[in-house]
Amino acid sequence: MPRFAARLVVVWSVIVGACALEAQTTSSKSAPAKRKQTRRAPANRDGMYMGRRIADVMSWEGAEWLFRETRVQEEQPEAMLDALKIPRGATVADVGAGAGYHSIRLAKRVGAKGIVLATDLQPEMLRMLRDNARAARVTNIKPILATQDDPKLPVDKLDLILMVDVYHECTDPAATLNSIKQALKPGGRLVLVEFRGEDPEVPIKPEHKMTLAQVRREVEPIGLEFKESLEFLPWQHVIIFAKPDPPKPAPTKAEPKPAPKTGG
Ligand SMILES: C[S@@+](CC[C@H](N)C(=O)[O-])C[C@H]1O[C@@H](n2cnc3c(N)ncnc32)[C@H](O)[C@@H]1O
Repeated sequence: MPRFAARLVVVWSVIVGACALEAQTTSSKSAPAKRKQTRRAPANRDGMYMGRRIADVMSWEGAEWLFRETRVQEEQPEAMLDALKIPRGATVADVGAGAGYHSIRLAKRVGAKGIVLATDLQPEMLRMLRDNARAARVTNIKPILATQDDPKLPVDKLDLILMVDVYHECTDPAATLNSIKQALKPGGRLVLVEFRGEDPEVPIKPEHKMTLAQVRREVEPIGLEFKESLEFLPWQHVIIFAKPDPPKPAPTKAEPKPAPKTGG
């Protein structure tokens, strides 16, 4: 082999080795977590938003991790959804749906008269979601390919928007939240499920966790009202916001009656 080509092979092996090591360290973010990440340029140049580091988007190549056996104990998805008391017939969205772990559960809960709009940035995730929905014989999920700043949801139509383990990955959180607010009906709820940033024992990388205070600091200025944070899950906050009713129009002043005409 000519010397130049041999050198090229050595350089190439070093690069491949380094990439494999990076994948290993990012995927070992926690004991239960084998999570592959896709590095995307955040909208925010330095990758920060309101004092926190925006996490890399989880790659579709690691989607198996979202269906790991231990997830049911770790995250208790049915108990989490029970607590939200979602009525049958509701119009709900699963933003950042991944391969449909919650979308399918939501679809069963809202029933045939309800619908689940399942958005994700990655077409591969939506492909897996379709396959999983077909296998679960669920027909009321509409997959939607979203963009970083637009979840592509209809305006004023949603009773509930769920984001499980997604918000901390949004590269343009304010744009995403504004579109979400538009999409909710007045009184409609936004539910963010996030690993607790306050708890060092939660075995997840810091940028994949959020504190309640940080979430409120980011969401409330958008005009969504904080309702409550449910804290019964082992590792996650379930943080509920609602879209306020539009302000009532000010009552119009009654026209003053003309003074009665006096004769003379
Ligand atoms: C950690 S996965 C969680 C998936 C799913 N919610 C679950 O709990 O199984 C995060 C997903 O959010 C998606 N995502 C990240 N930012 C998004 C955005 N701004 N809009 C829609 N999807 C987004 C990613 O593509 C990825 O599929």
